[in-house]
Amino acid sequence: MSKLIDGKAISAAVKQKVAEGVAELKSKGITTGLAVIIVGEDPASKIYVANKKKACEALGIISQEYALPAETTQEELLALIDTLNNEKSINGILCQLPLPRHLDEKAIINAISPEKDVDAFHPHNVGRIMIGDYDFVPCTPAGIMEMLEYEGIDPAGKTCVVIGRSNIVGKPMGMLLLHKNGTVTICHSRTQNLAEVCRRADILVAAVGKANFVTADMVKDGAVVIDVGMNRDNGKLCGDVAFDEVAKKASAITPVPGGVGPMTIAMLMKNTLTAARRQNGLN
Ligand code: GUN
Repeated sequence: MSKLIDGKAISAAVKQKVAEGVAELKSKGITTGLAVIIVGEDPASKIYVANKKKACEALGIISQEYALPAETTQEELLALIDTLNNEKSINGILCQLPLPRHLDEKAIINAISPEKDVDAFHPHNVGRIMIGDYDFVPCTPAGIMEMLEYEGIDPAGKTCVVIGRSNIVGKPMGMLLLHKNGTVTICHSRTQNLAEVCRRADILVAAVGKANFVTADMVKDGAVVIDVGMNRDNGKLCGDVAFDEVAKKASAITPVPGGVGPMTIAMLMKNTLTAARRQNGLN
């Protein structure tokens, strides 16, 4: 049976450190502020935003929520971002995705000042990740790297396979593993012999968005398995990995819930603290 990687415990440790950092800034008269923009009524987005707000409050970060109606125009949203870009008390700006279809997501991401882009979605920050010189990392891959480090799992020299090539998870995940000297393969819907490729992995990251997609026959004995999925299977929350059968083969595995999910918010808090430090000339 594999070791369970406890995202709740590791995220609590990260958040504790962030709270200390926020308090240290406060002792210097510096506040830490995050603006969260949500447009429309997407129920999942509303829950995510509420959780982000709650985490801010627990750590001493000032959160400002902008809940805008679904009919908000591109111009109105851009005007709000421009105001927040110029607001000194706001260190981080997050616009919850997905946006309603009439809004141009790319243009909105590009409008957020790279210094306040705590999601690390702006092309400036994406480019910096590519060259390994970055302040912000997208929260999910950053959280996974934090988990590996906490567990003493070093990707150096290991075969790392990421399933999924999204801009938010798969691609930056691959880059972060590469920066830690992993040998990285990114798989996707057109990958041939997927099971065979996955079976080579010492570290397997599943970011597919399909319940129970990764089965035991796709996993090498002793592999570390990270499950980014957040799916519903007959109403029950589950990941991308068929947990029960894969746990018998893996050396370590993240559960869903309680694995990668809690890490994502913790890393957002960490990015927000980094933003506040940088904007005040601190390392
Ligand atoms: N929607 C789902 N995940 C995320 C995220 O990490 N950041 C933002 N802004 N929107 C999301």
